Amino acid sequence: MKTRREVLKAAALTGLAAACGRGGGVGTVPDDDPQMRFEPTAASSFPPRWERTGLAEPARIADLPETMSFPLGVSSGDVSAEGIVVNCRYTGTAPLELRVWSNQRIIKLPVTAADYGFVNVLVTGLEPDTAHSYVFVELGTREQRSPIGRFRSALSQGDLKPLVFGATSCTSSDNDLIALKHASEREDLNAFFLLGDTTYCDGASNLQQFRDKWEGSIGRPLYRSLRASTPLVATWDDHEVDNDWNPELIGSGKLANARTAFLEHIPQRRDPMAPDRVWRSIRFGRTAEVFVLDSRSERKPSSIPSSSPLYISAEQLGWLKASLMASPCTFKVLLNSVPITSFPFSAFNLDSWNAYQAQRRDLLEFIDTNVTGALWLSGDHHFASVGRVSASGAGASQIEALAGPGAQGASPLWRGCTTSQWDYAGPDNNYLAVHLDPQSREARLVFWGVNGTRIQDHRYTL
Ligand SMILES: [Fe+2]
Repeated sequence: MKTRREVLKAAALTGLAAACGRGGGVGTVPDDDPQMRFEPTAASSFPPRWERTGLAEPARIADLPETMSFPLGVSSGDVSAEGIVVNCRYTGTAPLELRVWSNQRIIKLPVTAADYGFVNVLVTGLEPDTAHSYVFVELGTREQRSPIGRFRSALSQGDLKPLVFGATSCTSSDNDLIALKHASEREDLNAFFLLGDTTYCDGASNLQQFRDKWEGSIGRPLYRSLRASTPLVATWDDHEVDNDWNPELIGSGKLANARTAFLEHIPQRRDPMAPDRVWRSIRFGRTAEVFVLDSRSERKPSSIPSSSPLYISAEQLGWLKASLMASPCTFKVLLNSVPITSFPFSAFNLDSWNAYQAQRRDLLEFIDTNVTGALWLSGDHHFASVGRVSASGAGASQIEALAGPGAQGASPLWRGCTTSQWDYAGPDNNYLAVHLDPQSREARLVFWGVNGTRIQDHRYTL
């Protein structure tokens, strides 16, 4: 008789591509990491086994010819110590097998593409803190393969080691992604954060239009390279749906199509009880917990004049506070698409936490009182900066960095960040490298520009 944990583990191991999710049938299922507390949604049909890698096997995989049937390349995301979601879109018709390997072991996992060829597979049984590679292989008389991706599994739950994350935002398909080339060539990133406006979907309405926008954005060669090089952790901002969209006014069909396309293209763990939910957290040992916020789809602009305005839902806020309190990690990294910093220009503040002052103050006071090691990472404003969240009062000791834009025209508003609240603001396309040292509690923030130019380098003890 299997225990409930064993049953859940077996179900999570299926890696099925049609298990759950609405519209498009994206089929991620969560593993049974204690941190996720999710339950899988489908029964096991083929529990895979990790086997010892023959030394020649990875080389043989690399020698397979690469097929053009993976127009978006491959990507991985929401990595944990034991599991990861692996993603591709497959346009061929042959049976597919996912192979994931480390120096010591290999897993071979049959997968079935869902609607429009999307595959989102949860792979479990990883060794913590270990370099892995992965590939999709077309089976048949002549085997061909996808591009090869790589990732490092997260630290085991008790580990306290340094980490490095990359981050950017706002990568318009009208602009060159060259600022991300340096990031795609790094081998030290534990994950890369996409902080929103990854794809500008403005004008899209039906599902095919959203899918075309995504392909035009993340299908670009530099994006394919970056996405294959390290696990993603992504949230969305307004342009994944429409410019400055209002959740109280948007058509339900358009929003459903936007959400389906987002979840098809982003390798994300999904809670079977709330499969559309974007907010979640990802643990990296005891060094860092990454809190992914959904700052767009739950806001209620009609509540702004009230005494309890809702920028995020009461449920999301309650989860965030409880999770921050419970986290044993040295650093609590908050992925927050639109900045929470109070800027000296009103246009952006109307579209951010700042218009929802009571809830903003409540959260900042909660962190001031109860949380150490908080670091806000945001995007949206089309300039880079780092500084204090508030000039005074709640949040005055909390640090927020604006990463990106990765590929956008610069906003001139960075010139307004002139007071001592900011340590840096600038217009260059960039990505941010976040180095977290749990021994010293130091967060080192390095902004990287085109051609690997180091734009700024700041250190904070959190
Ligand atoms: Fe943007």
